[in-house]
Amino acid sequence: MVDKLKKRSWAEPFKIKVVEPLKITTREYRSRVLVEAGYNTFLLRSDDVYIDLLTDSGTNAMSDSQWAGMMLGDEAYAGSKNFYNLEANVRRYYGYKYLVPTHQGRGAENLISKILIKPGNYIPGNMYFTTTRLHQELAGGKFVDVIIDEAHDPESLHPFKGNVDLQKLEDLIDRVGADKIPYISVAVTVNMAGGQPVSIENLKQVRELCNKHGIRVILDATRALENAHFVKLREKGYENKPIAEILKEICSYSDGCTMSGKKDLLVNIGGFLALNDQEIFEEARNLVVVYEGLHTYGGLAGRDMEAMARGMEEAVQDDHMRARIGQIEYVGEKLLSIGVPIVLPVGGHAIFLDAKRFLPHVKQSEFPAQTLAAELYLESGIRSMERGIVSAGRNKDTGDHYYPKLELVRLTFPRRVYTQAHCDVTAEAVEEVFSNRQKIRGLKMVYEPKYLRFFQARFEPLAS
Ligand code: F0G
Repeated sequence: MVDKLKKRSWAEPFKIKVVEPLKITTREYRSRVLVEAGYNTFLLRSDDVYIDLLTDSGTNAMSDSQWAGMMLGDEAYAGSKNFYNLEANVRRYYGYKYLVPTHQGRGAENLISKILIKPGNYIPGNMYFTTTRLHQELAGGKFVDVIIDEAHDPESLHPFKGNVDLQKLEDLIDRVGADKIPYISVAVTVNMAGGQPVSIENLKQVRELCNKHGIRVILDATRALENAHFVKLREKGYENKPIAEILKEICSYSDGCTMSGKKDLLVNIGGFLALNDQEIFEEARNLVVVYEGLHTYGGLAGRDMEAMARGMEEAVQDDHMRARIGQIEYVGEKLLSIGVPIVLPVGGHAIFLDAKRFLPHVKQSEFPAQTLAAELYLESGIRSMERGIVSAGRNKDTGDHYYPKLELVRLTFPRRVYTQAHCDVTAEAVEEVFSNRQKIRGLKMVYEPKYLRFFQARFEPLAS
C-alpha cells in the first residue's frame, strides 16, 4: 500500500542555491574499494559513493535561514542565547517543559538510561533500535519487544505497524511487576520496522495502561514529525489538522522524549532530552555535565543549537513533510511496479528492500542484507545500509546471533538533498541487481567488533 497523495503533481517547496558535485566511478574501481571496505558500506569513503542513501541522519540540507542562523551562534560557555531559542521552540512544538541538549540522540539515550534504569529492570519498546537498546543494556536493563506482530511481517499492510501490542505489555507487567519497569520506550516512527508509524489511538491506550501501573512513557521522537504526517494521512479525524498540532498531541501522551535532531530537524548534528518531570530533569541536567557539556550546550556549539531551533520551524510545515514523504513514496511506487520485494506500507524515511525475498537462496547466517547492500554499491555506486542480522547483534547472555525476522536493506533518503532524477537512477540500479539476483552469493564475517558490530564488521565473499 502506498498512500495516495491527492494528485495534481506537487514539487519541493524550495529551490537549490548551493550544489555539491558527485563522483561517478567505474565498476572495477568499486570492486576494489569494496574489498578494502570489508564489504561493509559503513567502511566506504564517502568520496567513493555516487548517491548516498546510507542514512537520513545528519545528512540533510540546511536552508538559507539555518545557515544565516549559524552566523548568529552565541558561543558563550554558559547561557548561550541559542539555547534559549531552542528551549522556546521545544516547548512550542513538542510541548515539554524542560530541555537538556545533547550532541545527538544517543547522548540523550545514555542520560535517560543511566537515570531511570536499575540493574535487573525491564524496558519494553516497540522494536529495538541499536543504540537505544545498547544504552538500556549497559545500564543493566533488559529490552523487551512489545510491538505488534504485524511489524515483523514485511508484507502486512497494517497502517500503523509501529503500534505497541497492549497484551504483550500487560503480560510483561504481570510477569515481572510494574516496579521493575521504569518506563516504556515508544519510538515514533519505528526505524527498524521500516519507518512505520504509531497511531494516536495506540499512544492513548499505552498512556492509559502505563498510568494504571505507574510506568513512565518516554518517546523516541527522532522521527515524530514523519509519524505525525502518517497520522494525518491514515487516522480518522486528523485529515485536516496541521502536522504541528499532531506532533504536540503525540508528545502529550508521554513524560519526555529522547531526540536525534539529525533526522526530522534538518540539521547535521544535535539532539536533546526533553522532560516534564522536574526531578528527573534536575538529574539529567547534572549528569549531562559529565558526558556532554554544560546544560546550556550539551556538546553542541551555539550555532548548532540555532540551526536546530530554526530547522524545527521548517520541519513542522505541512508542505515540507508532504515533499519529504512524497519522495520516498515515489521510489516505493517505482520499485513495486517492477516487482522488487520491499517492506509495505512504504515507511517514513526510507525504502526497505526485503533481502529474504530478494535473495531467498542466501541463508540468514550468510548475511543476505549485507550481501545485497554490497552488490548494490558494486552495481551502481549507491550506498545503502544493512538492517538485519548484522545490525541485530548477539544476545549478551547466550552469545548467539539474534536472528531478526526482518532482514532488510535500507535506502534512506536525506531530506532536501536528492532530486527525482536521482530517485529514478536508484530504482533502475535496484532493478538491475534484482534481475541478476540468482548469481549473488552470501558473505562470511571475518572481523566482529564488540559493540554495535554493524558499523565496523568486515566480510569476505563465500566461495561460490
Ligand atoms: N533513535 C532512532 C529511531 C534512530 O534512528 C537513531 C539514529 C537514534 C535514536 C540515535 O540517534 O544517531 O543521533 O545518536 N539513527 C541513525 C540511522 C544512526 O541511520 O538510522 P543518533
